[in-house]
Amino acid sequence: MDPAHNLDSTRPDSILIVDFGSQVTQLIARRVREAGVYSEIAPFSMAEEAFHRMKPKGIILSGSPAGVPEEGSPRAPELLFEAGIPILGICYGQQVMTHQLGGEVRPGHETGEGGEFGRAFLTVTKDCALFDGLWKEGERHQVWMSHGDKVTRFADGFEIVATSDGAPFAVIADEKRQFYGTQFHPEVVHTPDGGKLIANFAHKVCGLKGDWTMAAYRETKVAEIREQVGDKRVICGLSGGVDSSVAAILIHEAIGDQLTCVFVDHGLLRLDERQQVETMFRDHYNIPLVVVDAEERFMAGLDGVSDPEKKRKFIGGEFINVFEEEAAKIGGADFLAQGTLYPDVIESVSFTGGPSVTIKSHHNVGGLPERMNMELVEPLRELFKDEVRDLGRELGLPDIFVGRHPFPGPGLAIRIPGEVDKSRCDILRKADAIYLDEIRKAGLYDAIWQAFAVLLPVKTVGVMGDHRTYDSVCGLRAVTSTDGMTADVYPFDAAFLTQVATRIVNEVQGINRVVYDYTSKPPGTIEWE
Ligand code: XMP
Repeated sequence: MDPAHNLDSTRPDSILIVDFGSQVTQLIARRVREAGVYSEIAPFSMAEEAFHRMKPKGIILSGSPAGVPEEGSPRAPELLFEAGIPILGICYGQQVMTHQLGGEVRPGHETGEGGEFGRAFLTVTKDCALFDGLWKEGERHQVWMSHGDKVTRFADGFEIVATSDGAPFAVIADEKRQFYGTQFHPEVVHTPDGGKLIANFAHKVCGLKGDWTMAAYRETKVAEIREQVGDKRVICGLSGGVDSSVAAILIHEAIGDQLTCVFVDHGLLRLDERQQVETMFRDHYNIPLVVVDAEERFMAGLDGVSDPEKKRKFIGGEFINVFEEEAAKIGGADFLAQGTLYPDVIESVSFTGGPSVTIKSHHNVGGLPERMNMELVEPLRELFKDEVRDLGRELGLPDIFVGRHPFPGPGLAIRIPGEVDKSRCDILRKADAIYLDEIRKAGLYDAIWQAFAVLLPVKTVGVMGDHRTYDSVCGLRAVTSTDGMTADVYPFDAAFLTQVATRIVNEVQGINRVVYDYTSKPPGTIEWE
């Protein structure tokens, strides 16, 4: 069968999300998926092409770090407003729609009111299709605002349907054209009814059925992979984590033996991780696996490097070197597959190449050297971690595997602030294994998103058996999260932490003090580097 034809037949009714560079655009796609509707994100500069290709039944305009009154700030293609299909503009999306349809947006400082950031309450002033079955006239509801500029005059045809103290135009609607604009962000969890509002837009305004599932995602991705790869060869970087495993199994389903998986032991793995991965893939799956022992070259390259970004860049680059060598050995591969997830992408560069700010260069993305001569296959790029787990279950992976905590590509290197060497990795491996062992024994593993030990570049004085010690400090981290984008500290009880600290200091030579990290994300990040 013609693969392009196959792809079209699996592409369901959809919503086009136009990205203006907001940090949370992908959350819009996620809410739309949760409503059982397929969506794609296109940067504003490519939205016209995406519109023609997808023939969507609705459009959502995202937020942006830019301001509509700023010169050169992005605009939506005019044809979207003339297409006769529903539009929901969120924050910047509301403002840019207002501006492009003839209304007025002014910078917050000019209105003399400043911006509005964080939790806010709005009052519903009129019923509208977006609120159907959810919010009624006169009710007050919590929402999440994050804006400086304001709509000061709306475009013809619009009216106010909800208002807040800081945003008189909290929600505007043109029911005739089915255009809606919210000043707040319905896509974030801090707007408790936000997901339902987006579902209302998808189901009640756009008229979509909501019958799209992870099984459909699997089918669509398998068809896309076949189309992208054709009869070429793919090499997949397997880390043993959930993401790269799900990616490998999905790609294997699509192209079978055209896929070769490479597992790089860079010496930055957790205790026994390499054996676990080998057993898992050789014994349980019939997927070709090459294991590369690259510890020495990674350690040599990390020697003397203490800057986190330099570590990440080196590890990312060296990974690709190893892949290229392995690809050459198997007779060449045209594609490199990675289990890159959405949060890896958004914090490195904007998902769509737009202007969101770099927090860290996650190694699957920012570390790729320009010279890399393989194309990327990244079938999980639009998903959040919990969605990847759903997809893993859909693909038949056992729960115990699917439930594993995330482990970053640069491995223990970013859990050893400062210089990394083999002996420090060995110390950390032991401490980390004890910590996770205690967590499992306490039955807490599944309640925690991610737990790990960190080895600090600080030595402190201790006393053991009448002797003075002068050894390293070990930090413990455990967080809860739904997607890794934000995280809360896991509240262990003191007895548990005491037990872990005692075991680590007693059993791991080189550590004489243990501390617990009490920082949420934001303002911290989950990893220490
Ligand atoms: P941060 O530290 O940015 O981490 O709050 C968010 C999630 O991403 C993981 N992480 C990475 N994963 N390559 C990866 O594959 C990386 O370079 C990387 N850095 C962080 C981190 O473990 C957490 O789950």
